[in-house]
Parts: sequence; structure tokens; C-alpha cells
Amino acid sequence: MLIAKTLSEINSYRQREQKYTIALVPTMGALHEGHISLIQRSRKECDRVIVSIFVNPLQFNPTEDLAEYPRQLETDCDLCAKLGVDLVFAPTLEAMGIAGDTSIQSLTTTVIPPVSMTSGLCGKYRPGHFQGVATIVTKLLNIIRPDRAYFGQKDAQQLAIIRRLVSDLNIPVEIIGCPIIRESSGLALSSRNQYLTTKDKEQALNIYSGLKQAAIAFYQGEKQASRLTAIVKDHLATVSEIETQYIELVDPQTLEPLETVESRGLLAVAAYLGNTRLIDNMILRQPTVAIDGPAGAGKSTVTRSVAEQLGLLYLDTGAMYRAVTWLVMNSGIDVKDEEKIADLVKGIKIDLISSESSDLPIGVYVNDTEVTKPIRTPEVTANVSAIAAQNAVREELVAIQQSYGQKGGIIAEGRDIGTNVFPDAELKIFLTASASERARRRFLDLQNQGYKDVDLVQLEQEIRRRDEKDSTRAIAPLKKANDAIEIVTDNLTIEEVINKIVELYQQLILL
Ligand code: PAJ
Repeated sequence: MLIAKTLSEINSYRQREQKYTIALVPTMGALHEGHISLIQRSRKECDRVIVSIFVNPLQFNPTEDLAEYPRQLETDCDLCAKLGVDLVFAPTLEAMGIAGDTSIQSLTTTVIPPVSMTSGLCGKYRPGHFQGVATIVTKLLNIIRPDRAYFGQKDAQQLAIIRRLVSDLNIPVEIIGCPIIRESSGLALSSRNQYLTTKDKEQALNIYSGLKQAAIAFYQGEKQASRLTAIVKDHLATVSEIETQYIELVDPQTLEPLETVESRGLLAVAAYLGNTRLIDNMILRQPTVAIDGPAGAGKSTVTRSVAEQLGLLYLDTGAMYRAVTWLVMNSGIDVKDEEKIADLVKGIKIDLISSESSDLPIGVYVNDTEVTKPIRTPEVTANVSAIAAQNAVREELVAIQQSYGQKGGIIAEGRDIGTNVFPDAELKIFLTASASERARRRFLDLQNQGYKDVDLVQLEQEIRRRDEKDSTRAIAPLKKANDAIEIVTDNLTIEEVINKIVELYQQLILL
């Protein structure tokens, strides 16, 4: 592992490695499991991983703990090396252009995020903080020019501001938000937890349990922001050592305060325990369930049934690909004409109407035309896989699926739903069965359909070949998400599998 301290070192590294996908994980050091989770995710997704360690004076205001902020570069570098990091960028103040006067005004140019995003939550109590963060992150992105940069949802306001800044300033980087890592007790990990005694930690836990209580109320139908924040407030008021700074419910993207949570809300808390300031948050939305697994494990039957029992929207991704196929064929375009198809799917509108409460009758719509029946014809069926294999189609449909996912309350199945389409799904299931069991089921199926001379051994070989192909394909390979719960269905009936998933969901929403 390399350690770079100057811009010229990082420049020559960048030049040498330019053909690779580069990840940046910006940190202020004192690395803990929260940082580790970002590093591990980036290690999996990119060819080269750069971790920056820089205690940024610009984001501390004069009353804050800059001098005491934990610094342990050597330990951090050892840890990074163990995690397979390629380069640690640990610049000096001078290298970052921050010599002498460390106030933000001493820099010639400052990045100022929209006031609407910095006036609430932490911004209200930490004047200048997010300008300091935005300025340093912009500098780091320009110095390192990563393809992807990884940030934690723990600092939800920071993440929303960085997403916005990258979009507003057209910085060519993909921002990846990663879930909050907690101690087994539920306390969110933070470099500042070092200042807490065991007793402090026990009390700090109440921040998480307050958020959880509000989340339970939300799952049970409470949508009023004032009531949801009051639940956390009342809970924290029972712990005299905790001094609450704010409890706010805002839109997770724009950070504007919400009166009611229609689809998603960010419930965020900052509180003092003695001199230590702690923050935590939770996204409130109906949970999303992602079911992945190999072909023939019974995913679609199970998913449909679970959706019905739990009142979730079954996001029928297969119907979406069929709808595109129908549109391509109906427009007289050759199914192999990737260019024309790419144009056709740009901005395509696909609606899956599953509830009586909509203005439209239940069914599948493409560009406002009802196509529920026509997408099931043998002609469409014959062409779906050719269409689904096209990158442009896949990208457009994943974006549509993700916009459904923003609201939550959906369930979807496939090969990469929990890894690629909904990486932040609240419940991920990997539904699988041994190849021999799947072959046996297929065998019985075919026999029931009247095919008498099928060969079981041959079926099993075909299934193994298909598994191999599915897990190595370039687009949407079959993968088990790290946080997925594996259910092996060899000795289970369909009902048992469905009940298991329903039970897991119920445990989740009672937390
Ligand atoms: P720092 O506090 O060191 O955090 C670095 C990254 O780790 C941030 O993206 C943060 O959200 C993430 N992180 C911290 N605790 C986490 C947890 N418990 N679970 C998941 N992720 C967690 O945030 C900063 O540094 C700075 O503001 C920085 C972006 C580096 C700019 O100076």
C-alpha cells in the first residue's frame, strides 16, 4: 500500500492507474467499523481504492474540538493495508492549500451549498461547517478524480449536500451512500464514541431506541412529522444526561422540513452527552423487500404471495421488460437494433397499477397505453431476453424501478435486486435450493405437463450450467448481497417459505 502526502505523488499515481476504476473514501481518520464498511464496499466495486485521511480544519468552527480530534495515522494506515486499500492520501495542511489562518475565509474560493440545505439540522448549530465540508470534498474530488466516492448515511445531511454539489457543479463522479454501521447495542459508530464511558454509551443508546420507536409508529400508520418527532423527544426527555439539540423530520434529498411523510422522510437527531455531540438518523419509508436467487428456486411464486399477504406492491420487473419488448415490436423496430431501441426507451413511462385506489384500472401501462394482455403473447415472450440483455434498456428500467423503490413498500425478485437495484432494501432474501432439488422440481413439473421422457440427470446438468452463466454474466449477474438472509428451500414447502419471509418482515417492522 502506498502513502501519498503531496499532490505530485497523487498526480503520478492517478496518471499511472488511469485505466482503472478508482474509488475514493474520504475520511478524517480514527477509522472504525463505519469507515471500514465504506472501504470494504469500495474494494468490492472498484479496481483501485484510495482512502483520504485529513482532519479538515475548515469544517470545525472555533468552539469545536479540532485540537482534540483523534489522530492516529499509523494505526489507520495499518488497518487500510489490511483491508486491501491501494493508497492512503494523507496530505498536509499546506498540500491542501490551508496554511496559517485555518478559517474558511482564508481560502480564495469557497463552495457554498444551497442555504435551504445548510440552514436546518446540524447546519443550524454548526455555522460554516458544511461550507468547509463542501469545499474540502470538492478539492479532494478534483485532486483524485475518482469514478466513485463513498459516504455514510450516518452523516445524512453531508451526504445529501455532497450529492447536490456534485450534480450542481457537474463533477463527474458517482456518489455512493452506505448504510449506518452500529454497535451490536444499536449505537451508531462514530470517532467521537471514544470520548464516551461505558455508562455514557448505555445512555447514548436511547437516541437509537427513540428513533426506533418513531419508526414503529410510522410503520403502524403515523405520518405526522410533529407526532413522530414528539415520540423521539419524549423518549429522550426520560434520560436526564442527554441534552437534545434537535430532532427534525425532513425530505432526505432536499432536506426541506416535512409536515407529513408521504413517501420518505429523514428523521435526524443531534444530542449532547456531557461534552460529546452525537448524531443519528433513520430513513422512514415503508420497507422494501428484495428477493434474489438462482433460477428455479421458486422466487416469483413466493414473491407474489408475500406481496399479497403483506400489502406490498409487487414490482414485476419481468412485466417491465415485456412492456419494453412490446413497445419495440409495436414500433416496428428490429429487436437487435440497439441504437434505435436506446432512443425509444429514453424517458419511457411504465406504470404498474396494482391497487383499486388508482385512477387507472389495474394493469401494466407503457407510455399510457394499457398492455397487460399483449405483453403475454408468445411473440413478446420469444423476444424478451434479447431486449433485457441490452444495456440501455437495463439502465432505463433500473432507474424506473429505483424510483418506485424510493417510496418503499415494494417487493421485487431477480438476480441483482438486493445488490444493484435496491442495495438499501430493508429486507433482503436469497432464496435458493440445491441444483439437484431444483432439477427434481422441474422434473415433476414437466411430468405433470405430460412430458414423460425427460432425463433428471440432464436437467440437473442444465441447471448447473445456467447457474454458472447467471453468476458470471456481464449484465445483472446473480449475487448474494452481504446482508441478505439465505433461505435454502430444499426441505421446505412453498407455504413454509412464504411464512418465513412474512415472519422476517414482521420482525423487521417491529424492529
Ligand atoms: P468522518 O467523520 O471521518 O467520516 C468519513 C465517512 O465515514 C463519512 O462518509 C461518514 O458518513 C462515514 N461514517 C462515519 N460513521 C459511520 C457509521 N457509523 N456508519 C457508516 N458510515 C459512517 O465525514 C467526514 O469524515 C468528513 O466530513 C469528510 C467527508 C471526510 C470531509 O472532511
